[in-house]
Amino acid sequence: MASKSINLTISIFVLASATLCFSRSSNGGSLSPQFYARSCPQAHQIVHSVVSRVVSREPRMAASLLRLHFHDCFVQGCDASLLLDSGNGIVSEKGAVPNNNSTRGFDVLDEIKSALERACPQTVSCADIIALAARDCTVLAGGPSWDVQLGRRDSRNASFSGANNNIPAPNNTYQTILSTYTRVGLDVVDLVALSGSHTIGNARCTSFRQRLYNQTGNGLQDFTMDQTYVARLRTGCPRSGGDQNLFVMDSITPARFDNNYFKNILSARAMLNSDEVLATQNKVSLGLVRKYAASNEAFFQQFAKSIVKMGNISPLTGSRGEIRRNCRAVNA
Ligand SMILES: *[C@@H]1O[C@H](CO)[C@@H](O)[C@H](O)[C@H]1NC(C)=O
Ligand SMILES: *[C@@H]1O[C@H](CO)[C@@H](O)[C@H](O)[C@H]1NC(C)=O
Ligand SMILES: *[C@@H]1O[C@H](CO)[C@@H](O)[C@H](O)[C@H]1NC(C)=O
Ligand SMILES: *[C@@H]1O[C@H](CO)[C@@H](O)[C@H](O)[C@H]1NC(C)=O
Ligand SMILES: *[C@@H]1O[C@H](CO)[C@@H](O)[C@H](O)[C@H]1NC(C)=O
Repeated sequence: MASKSINLTISIFVLASATLCFSRSSNGGSLSPQFYARSCPQAHQIVHSVVSRVVSREPRMAASLLRLHFHDCFVQGCDASLLLDSGNGIVSEKGAVPNNNSTRGFDVLDEIKSALERACPQTVSCADIIALAARDCTVLAGGPSWDVQLGRRDSRNASFSGANNNIPAPNNTYQTILSTYTRVGLDVVDLVALSGSHTIGNARCTSFRQRLYNQTGNGLQDFTMDQTYVARLRTGCPRSGGDQNLFVMDSITPARFDNNYFKNILSARAMLNSDEVLATQNKVSLGLVRKYAASNEAFFQQFAKSIVKMGNISPLTGSRGEIRRNCRAVNA
């Protein structure tokens, strides 16, 4: 009897320490989907109601808000550093090359934050709002759902150079893109699955022009692209000018979150160089592209896992950082 209870105690202890090790090593140590269960039980509903209203009015906003989660997490972790405006010693990440003229949705996050401040003052971080909004947008566009880990706190600084150096660019090589992922603890599986978010949203002419006219640097186009597709893109993306002209990234189902992105890659209709290299530069990533092209379910399952992993990049927890009152500025 006694030995049985000792065994039980030991196994509970072992189990508890195993859980502890796992959550520590996954980097999101004290994050939990129930983080606001007592302090702000209506948080999820408030985020969802603003996001669904905005996305039903403007479906493109789903992609824009999802993108903010990526661009926040890749720069000193998921800490809402991206949302800070310039001033008081801060140089906003919004002006960095990957963000300027292309990140949007900041006003939507402001609206969510104001509603949350009215309901539960200084309780829900801006970093968590971004993570919740990204999940809601994905679901609204027809994609997978997942439990959002919560409890991140907001940074008191931003990193302009981090935004310029740590976010993968559309014309980067496969190795450069992969290294931006491995640097933050993500791997090739995460890279391919998360790239699948290009199943919704638009890209600007400036992000793929080089493929149409000067891929090799000697005036030649990217010949791996489908020629009909090249011709169509050229009509709206001239050799010069029209930098900000927009094109849907998944021309089969532009506003639906599904695996057509991967089918497009396999039929030489990848829009960005960073999409195409997944199939042309590495066997492992090609295998994953084929796998997700063949199975929407496999894509959805991995996307959910990978985005939770991305959401765990270096969160500020405990007494680090703060809960901003206004997502655009650190507290006085
Ligand atoms: C943003 O757009 C402006 C005006 O079109 C342009 O001058 C600027 O270079 C663009 N910035 C970036 C980082 O693309
Ligand atoms: C960012 O975009 C704005 C508006 O288009 C432009 O005025 C500004 O010069 C751009 N900043 C950078 C750093 O490119
Ligand atoms: C921002 O603050 C954190 C800790 O408070 C620090 O580790 C990081 O280096 C700072 N980043 C910049 C760009 O100053
Ligand atoms: C990617 O494009 C940027 C400007 O948009 C350019 O400065 C850079 O040299 C390009 N990189 C490659 C590898 O083509
Ligand atoms: C093509 O790119 C190369 C290298 O980036 C550049 O030197 C050249 O001027 C470009 N040619 C044209 C026609 O744009």
